[in-house]
Order: sequence, then C-alpha cells, then structure tokens
Amino acid sequence: MDIEHRVSLKKYNTFGIDVPASHFIRIDSLETLREALAEPGLPPPFILSGGSNLLLTGPLEARVLYMDTRGREVVAEDAGRINLRVMAGENWHELVMWTLDQGFGGLENLALIPGKTGTAPIQNIGAYGVEIKDVLQSLEAVDMQTGELVSFSREACGFGYRDSVFKRGARGRYVIWSVTLGLTRKGHEIRTGYGDIAGWLEREGIRHPEPADVARAVIAIRKSKLPDPAVLGNSGSFFKNPVVPKTQYEELLRTHPGMPGYPQEGDGIKVPAGWLIDSLGLKGMRRGDAGVHEKQALVLVNHGAATGEEILQLAREIQQRVLEAFDIRIEPEVNIL
Ligand code: EPU
Repeated sequence: MDIEHRVSLKKYNTFGIDVPASHFIRIDSLETLREALAEPGLPPPFILSGGSNLLLTGPLEARVLYMDTRGREVVAEDAGRINLRVMAGENWHELVMWTLDQGFGGLENLALIPGKTGTAPIQNIGAYGVEIKDVLQSLEAVDMQTGELVSFSREACGFGYRDSVFKRGARGRYVIWSVTLGLTRKGHEIRTGYGDIAGWLEREGIRHPEPADVARAVIAIRKSKLPDPAVLGNSGSFFKNPVVPKTQYEELLRTHPGMPGYPQEGDGIKVPAGWLIDSLGLKGMRRGDAGVHEKQALVLVNHGAATGEEILQLAREIQQRVLEAFDIRIEPEVNIL
C-alpha cells in the first residue's frame, strides 16, 4: 500500500477546487482497502470517488481512499435479461455507453451523469424519469469497522429522491464495492416521457427508438444546458428540488402563476429549485469566479479560480434569497466538506 502526502485534489473534484489532502491512498483491490482501513496512526478515512458531488472548502485532513477499481461481469442471464456486476471505480458514463454497445437496455436515460458507479446508489442518481433504484438489484459494501463484505438488497438500500440508507443510518459506515444492475437484452422499456426526449426523437425522425437512441437524446439535451466539468467546473445540480405542502404551493401560485409543481406521494408538491432561482433573475450571476450557470440556474460553476468557500457563500446567498422570496428552504444536494 502506497500512502501519498499532501496531494492536490484539483483533478479529483469536478468543481476543480485546488486543496491538498493530507494522506492519499489509491484503492485498486480489496486487500489494499482493508489494509488502508486498518492502518494505525492516520486521520479518519474519506472515500473519494468521481468527486462530482463534492464541494471542498479547505484542506482535507483525512486518509483519502481513492476508489480506482475496475471490472464488469455478467453474473446471471436468461433470454431477455442480464444481471451485470460492476466495480465501484468504473466511470458511470463509460459504463452506460458500454452497456448500450453490448445491446443491453436500462441505463440509457442516465447517460452523461458524471461520477463513478460506486457512488451512484448513495444519492440514488436520477435523470429523465429514471433513477438507479429502478435497475439496481443489489450491491456489495465493505464495512469500514470490520473490513467485511456485506450484501445489500435493493430494499435494504432504502432509496428515496436523491437519498438512500447510505446518507442516513448507514452514513460513514460502508464503502460501496460493487453494484449489480438488472438490464434488458430484448423487450427494452423505452422511457421518453420526461422533458424533451420525445420531441428530440421526433425531430430526428426516429419513430421506434432503441435504448441507444434515447441515450443520444439525453446526451444532446444535457449538453445543451449542463456545463461540461472539463470545461467549466461544476457539480451538476447544486440543490435538491424542494417538496412543499400543497396549501403553500397553491398560495404561491396566486402570486407566481407560472410556478411548475409535481405532485408527490402524500400531500407534497415538488417545485424545481432551478425555476425558483431563475425567477429571481440569478442565472448568470457572479461573485468573483463563483457563479450561477447561465443556462441552468440549479448549477453553480467555478469560472476559474473560485475557492470552495466562495462557492459556499454564493450558495448561502441563493438559499437566503429563495427563502425570503418564497418561504422555501432549498437544501444542497452536493456534499460540502
Ligand atoms: N427551470 C427553469 N430555469 C432553470 C432551470 C430549470 O425555469 O434555470 C425549470 C425548467 O423549465 C423545468 C423545471 O425547472 O420546468 C425542471 O428543470 P430540468 O428539467 O432542467 O430539471 P431539474 O429539476 O432542474 C433535475 C435533476 C437533474 C436531472 C434533471 C433531468 C435534481 C436536483 N436535478 O433537474 O439532475 O438531470 O432533473 O432529469 O433533481 C444532478 O442531480 O446533478 C442533475 C443534473
């Protein structure tokens, strides 16, 4: 096991924030992970994956465990379906494209989401009408206290909107090691109902879309409004979409007739945080190098040399203005360290 000291994390987080990690260990096998967890005298562990949902506000005094495992294996199959076990360190979008190349359906709506496979279940990544919970069969995680490999069924993961047991009761206890996804070989379930997917396919003249066509639509739509982290540092949606009581939503509609709202189970209405921020005229706003993306108000960006603290200040200012204008508290989706 190789322990590096004072490693710059700039290339390991999609905001491109340049802070050092006191200790950095690359994890490419179960043995290395167990050794790294058991090593005495080091600061507490921090699991670093794709760094795409992370805002670093200062030097990281931690035993950074950088997930760098590889592997994709069909573990069960019949005529119509396969189960694919994927190691946590695999890049998510490369995995999506590879499954489509193999003719497997199921992940197409989740194309172009930054990050690695192992962290996808933690916040139950979702886009264009699909969440990872819809395809995940089970996962394996390493218990950081014992080093044991533990299996979680889909139910045991306790998934919710941008949420799972790994953000609640099991927070900080496990390292996700592999995920097993249930995909289709034929009879694919094509989901074009969200946003402009159907419109894009129609404009392209595609009447009977295959999963790969849906992925092309999703990629085109995402590219049109979400910035590429390699060009402009960002972490996707910075805030979660809030759910407000129906009575409050109806009250707000009187003064803001255009406010979108999506009824949830129970009494709540989900309101797009991007709309709230946008309606305050904050798209394209800047505080130094920290800014609100000009095409999607839910995305905060680093125009170059912003510090994590500056981005956090901007996020707080936005939260405050949304609270004052709508009496709605929006919460970050991004992990702030
Ligand atoms: N809207 C605006 N102005 C904006 C942004 C959005 O008016 O600047 C309005 C849109 O017109 C639309 C509504 O808000 O009516 C929803 O916008 P969009 O479809 O872009 O989706 P979102 O709610 O902003 C969520 C996810 C995204 C995911 C998209 C598509 C969250 C926090 N974000 O965004 O996920 O790609 O839906 O499914 O749920 C991510 O988590 O990092 C992420 C990018």
